Amino acid sequence: MTEEQWGELLDLDADVLAGAFAALVAELPVPRSPERIVDLGTGTGVGTFALLTRFPDAHVTAVDVSAENLRRLQENARARGLGDRVHTVEADLDADWPDLAASGAPDLVWASASLHHLADPAVALGRIRDLLAPGGLFTLVELTDFPRFLPADAPAERPGLEERCHEAIARVNAAHVPHLGLDWQSALTAAGFTVAAHRDVAMSVAWAESPSVGRYALGTLRRIRQTAGDQLAAEDLAALDRLIDADGPGSILRRDDVVVRTERQVWVASTPVPA
Ligand SMILES: C[S@@+](CC[C@H](N)C(=O)[O-])C[C@H]1O[C@@H](n2cnc3c(N)ncnc32)[C@H](O)[C@@H]1O
Repeated sequence: MTEEQWGELLDLDADVLAGAFAALVAELPVPRSPERIVDLGTGTGVGTFALLTRFPDAHVTAVDVSAENLRRLQENARARGLGDRVHTVEADLDADWPDLAASGAPDLVWASASLHHLADPAVALGRIRDLLAPGGLFTLVELTDFPRFLPADAPAERPGLEERCHEAIARVNAAHVPHLGLDWQSALTAAGFTVAAHRDVAMSVAWAESPSVGRYALGTLRRIRQTAGDQLAAEDLAALDRLIDADGPGSILRRDDVVVRTERQVWVASTPVPA
């Protein structure tokens, strides 16, 4: 998948899940409105925009290794009239971190679906702990899986296809994305955080609720095809190919039963305030 295709998929993800992220952010147990927020592995800004909307006095420093994602984020910020409240920083969080406290230590650090990509999340958690202002909060959002789109009995010729795709991806991820599904609660505690809140958030978005659902499903299934296609039986691969053929009669774009279903785990954690 090229940087551009990946950025496009993140934009679709942000579009489809914007309401769900707004609800997630609305329920964060944050005692006082943060002013300086850092979003680590921001993507194209799904979390940044939810945070800026909930906290109208806040500015976000949005960090990502991908210049293309940050370009899209800036474009999205301008389109929403939020350009002057977002500062982007291109940085590889596996390397030395840039100074993310140049204009004051952040009172909220947010990392959504990004820490599992890092070589050593424990190192990142230690840096986040040291970066936060005294009394500041860290919100960690992690996903356990790729989203699902189809009913269990679809498609008619290969029922259960999506489940088998997910089993195939899990095998690939176990080798290539080993920190997906890490025991984050223990990792946070080991890094010196106190977990103030933890919950599982189920997100469900039907096509009628977002016109981007079809293209999001198509893009995600294409990514699954690219990542784990070689793990599938020939009949499953053929059925998947019919779903991702945008112009074909079996295309997912022609189905009226597509619902995005995904889950996030959310932790809100603090560090001890020095006496
Ligand atoms: C799955 S996306 C999550 C995007 C967004 N935060 C969200 O909640 O949807 C993971 C993001 O982490 C970024 N990322 C991955 N490895 C990184 C690294 N070493 N340093 C900085 N960003 C990284 C990717 O470029 C991508 O934008």
